[in-house]
Amino acid sequence: MSANILALTMQKGGVAKTTTTLSLGVNLAERGHKVLLVDLDPQANLSQGLNIDIENLEYSIYEVLLNPDHGTDFATLHTSAGVDIIPSTLALAGAELELAGKVGRELLLRKALKQAKEKYDYILLDPPPSLGLFTLNAMAAATSVVVPLQVHAYAFKAMPKLEATIDLIKDLNPPLAIGGIVCTLSDKRTSLSQAVETQIRSRYGDLVFHTVIPFNTKLAEAPAMGEPIHTYAPQSAGARAYAALAEEVEARYAHK
Ligand SMILES: Nc1ncnc2c1ncn2[C@@H]1O[C@H](COP(=O)(O)OP(=O)(O)OP(=O)(O)O)[C@@H](O)[C@H]1O
Ligand SMILES: [Mg+2]
Repeated sequence: MSANILALTMQKGGVAKTTTTLSLGVNLAERGHKVLLVDLDPQANLSQGLNIDIENLEYSIYEVLLNPDHGTDFATLHTSAGVDIIPSTLALAGAELELAGKVGRELLLRKALKQAKEKYDYILLDPPPSLGLFTLNAMAAATSVVVPLQVHAYAFKAMPKLEATIDLIKDLNPPLAIGGIVCTLSDKRTSLSQAVETQIRSRYGDLVFHTVIPFNTKLAEAPAMGEPIHTYAPQSAGARAYAALAEEVEARYAHK
């Protein structure tokens, strides 16, 4: 067994990268898979969404990247949501400079995940929106990129940047490609949303998952409560959409 390592990447802020990592992760775990989430963002939203006290961590992704030969177990936390997580910390913001001088600095995460990838079915990576060392580490470690694409007027604007980054990382990770596109934050009531979704589907075809994640305030409330959506509001449209997405992801990545 070797994990599907999915980088939830888009070089644009606020497109639901973190929400998708968390909600997809807990649903995959719910479906019986072993899931590890990796918070690579100094904002630490993913960690906070799982109710992790980021002020009092013994270890975080920071120590993992500094000591890639030590694996990831020492920094991995088990959660009541059924997923494991390597949390982030605000101190990560300073780590970028510290790591910048290291040889093979883009490959630290890949190296660190060597053992973990034999233990998990899915490892979901949540990098920040900027193209820095953490995003490059995620792209170098990933087996596939899953793109959360916000269904709005400028949906495509950041795609060329993302495609350029995938090209940039090709030397280090030749097979890397976009494996799936998730339409997020869709407001079905507006004709604009419908039109943009149609455009996305005609441009990217089968890459686009059938499931569309609707705008749903429950999805914004859940992390504030430190609870995943499938227990916070199991009947909500958001919870149902992410459950359906997990089923599709499972089918798509089953034999890869
Ligand atoms: N489907 C949704 N409906 C309503 N609110 C949502 C939905 N998805 C995400 N949000 C909210 O939108 C905001 C941005 O989402 P999120 O943090 O997941 O995006 P992100 O791409 O990870 O952002 P960043 O670039 O800052 O890391 C958050 O407040 C989140 O709770
Ligand atoms: Mg985020």
